[in-house]
Amino acid sequence: MIRSAKASDAKELYQLESSIFTKEDFGLALYSFYYHINKNELFIHEQSGKIVGYILWLKRKKYYRLYSLCIAKEFQGKGVAKKLLDFSFKNIVAPCYQLEVKVDNTKAIKLYEKYGFKKSKVLKKFYSNQQDGYLMVR
Ligand SMILES: CC(C)(COP(=O)(O)OP(=O)(O)OC[C@H]1O[C@@H](n2cnc3c(N)ncnc32)[C@H](O)[C@@H]1OP(=O)(O)O)[C@@H](O)C(=O)NCCC(=O)NCCS
Repeated sequence: MIRSAKASDAKELYQLESSIFTKEDFGLALYSFYYHINKNELFIHEQSGKIVGYILWLKRKKYYRLYSLCIAKEFQGKGVAKKLLDFSFKNIVAPCYQLEVKVDNTKAIKLYEKYGFKKSKVLKKFYSNQQDGYLMVR
């Protein structure tokens, strides 16, 4: 089941985040989850009462920015990200959607391309570890 996150989901979201993103990746802090649940669009995928993935969109004046997408290790490769993206495009209507992704995250890039995102430019040293990213636009 996919639904909007509530404040009571923040701790579980933070645990999921910490299991996927290392310190070097600068994953979201617990307080950031409270903030985004309140201010932005954060959808979660639940299975048997457990959060197995989430997607976070930031609302900008003229577009939505996909800020984070994260699926629990044991649920990856089972179509959860696709379900979250399908749900997002049904529930968030905007003329434009954007995201940034590390140039070596081929899994994610393939997924985004399936949803019509196109590489728009290379973002030099975009990430904290100086890695390049792609800006992708749909
Ligand atoms: C990238 C990520 C979000 C994909 O989520 P997922 O639920 O495993 O993806 P899905 O099962 O919905 O697969 C969707 C598509 O992703 C791509 N994909 C998924 N697993 C893949 C793999 N092992 N190798 C290559 N492509 C893969 C495929 O294009 C797949 O489509 P297909 O099933 O038609 O072939 C997930 O692996 C994840 O959370 N990774 C760590 C965090 C991250 O990198 N987030 C994105 C940051 S921008």
